[in-house]
Amino acid sequence: MGHDCAVGNWEHFQKNCHWFEELEIGLDFSKLNRPNKITKDRVRMALDAVKALEQGAIANGTEGRRVGHYWLRAPELAPEENMRREIVETREKVESFAAAVRSGAIGTAAGPFTDLLCIGIGGSALGSQLLLGALPPNGMGLHFLDNTDPDGFARIFRAIGENLSRTLLVVTSKSGSTPEPRNGLAAFEELLRSKNLPLAERAVAVTCAGSALDRRAEKESWMARFPMWDWVGGRTSVCSAVGLLPAALCGIDIGAFLSGAAAMDRLTRRPENNPALELAIGWYGATEGRGAADMVVLPYCDALRGLSPYLQQLTMESLGKRLSRKGETVHQGLTVYGNRGSTDQHSYVQQLRDGLKNFFVTFVEVLRGQELRATAAQKSAGEYLEGFFLGTREALAAEGRPSITITLRQVDASSLGLLVALFERAVGFYGEFIDVNAYDQPGVEAGKRAADRSLRLLRDIEKFLERAGMGPDGKNASAVAAALGRTEEMEMVFKWLEFLRAQP
Ligand code: PA5
Repeated sequence: MGHDCAVGNWEHFQKNCHWFEELEIGLDFSKLNRPNKITKDRVRMALDAVKALEQGAIANGTEGRRVGHYWLRAPELAPEENMRREIVETREKVESFAAAVRSGAIGTAAGPFTDLLCIGIGGSALGSQLLLGALPPNGMGLHFLDNTDPDGFARIFRAIGENLSRTLLVVTSKSGSTPEPRNGLAAFEELLRSKNLPLAERAVAVTCAGSALDRRAEKESWMARFPMWDWVGGRTSVCSAVGLLPAALCGIDIGAFLSGAAAMDRLTRRPENNPALELAIGWYGATEGRGAADMVVLPYCDALRGLSPYLQQLTMESLGKRLSRKGETVHQGLTVYGNRGSTDQHSYVQQLRDGLKNFFVTFVEVLRGQELRATAAQKSAGEYLEGFFLGTREALAAEGRPSITITLRQVDASSLGLLVALFERAVGFYGEFIDVNAYDQPGVEAGKRAADRSLRLLRDIEKFLERAGMGPDGKNASAVAAALGRTEEMEMVFKWLEFLRAQP
């Protein structure tokens, strides 16, 4: 597959468009119009590196960790017997727990669970949101708390309403100490307490053994605990209990999802005709290997509205790095944004067509809908959706604006597995091409530490105001900062004083 031809002719299309019949997925690079700048040697090195990773090498050098998300759908590949056993046992436990909840065998004093509240953030939420946005929960009211915004909590709690006593809580946090889920849990617990409902008999934890969350769940005898492992990164954890448990609880066929991912893994291990490799090579050509173009993700399908946020994390947290693996400053990345077509044609697609040429689009075309298009209006709407996709792609190509198209026969558990595995490996290959550690996230951790420092400053300010008998007011920022010996943080002191002043 080459990337260096002009767009728009049939032969060029045939040469650059590939349909993988066994997986019912197609990749079309005919409108990418970017040179392949990756030599055969670099391809071989990338394939070797990802193979070594799959065999258990320490691929996350900065954290000294293995990277094992591929084993989650092929446990036999895990390098140690205890890992293989834990993966299999966890999946079995997820399936049996979900079946018991769904059948009502496990429930509350008030009856079977009607609602599921998932608390988690980042890698502990986005995968579930992708799956459950695409395959709507069958027979479960579904709610996510993925922030620390009390107004957001209130909105979700109002939506749960009368079903509170029959709401199952799944708290997911690999580290077990992330503030956002901790705060969401505290708020939910207060709500339960106000209605005299105990937490433990409706709560489940997904976390690493021995984490603060795990210790709490054990001490309080929560309904169940499911493991996370340090060899699975948050953004690649959708095939662990992190993604599987909420999916199974909502009736999604997690076996089909894992099989889809495993099938894509098999396809993307090969040296030739490898869609993940082609994607990574295409990205490299489009971005000049330095993030010079943004990737706009445009699925023409409402069910895939979770794809852009999911890929945004997978790609930007993996590739957005200051240092190369050699320790050189590189400031790498690949910016991802998007929502869905045709909705976005009525917003930023104007700029894509006529404005800055700093992007390439990844279209996702879905040939068959989830619902039967039985009426004339439904049929016509579906034709319009495809028509808008084809038209937009052509209109962009005519202006020399590149795109890749991924075609799915339909959106189901299996095709979601294919998509997840395709992008995971493409990101892995691209990380090899640009020589960054695609599996750590020092920036996320620096942000968490900075927030901690800022909150400690708030506590000091509050104590000072109380001692001094002063009310909060930004006008006093310099006096307060001087009294605390924090004049170098004057701006932050001012912001906290104004925040405190605004509180009712
Ligand atoms: O991918 C990541 O590492 C992050 O986005 C984490 O998933 C996120 O910070 C949540 O962390 P945790 O699961 O430890 O609560």
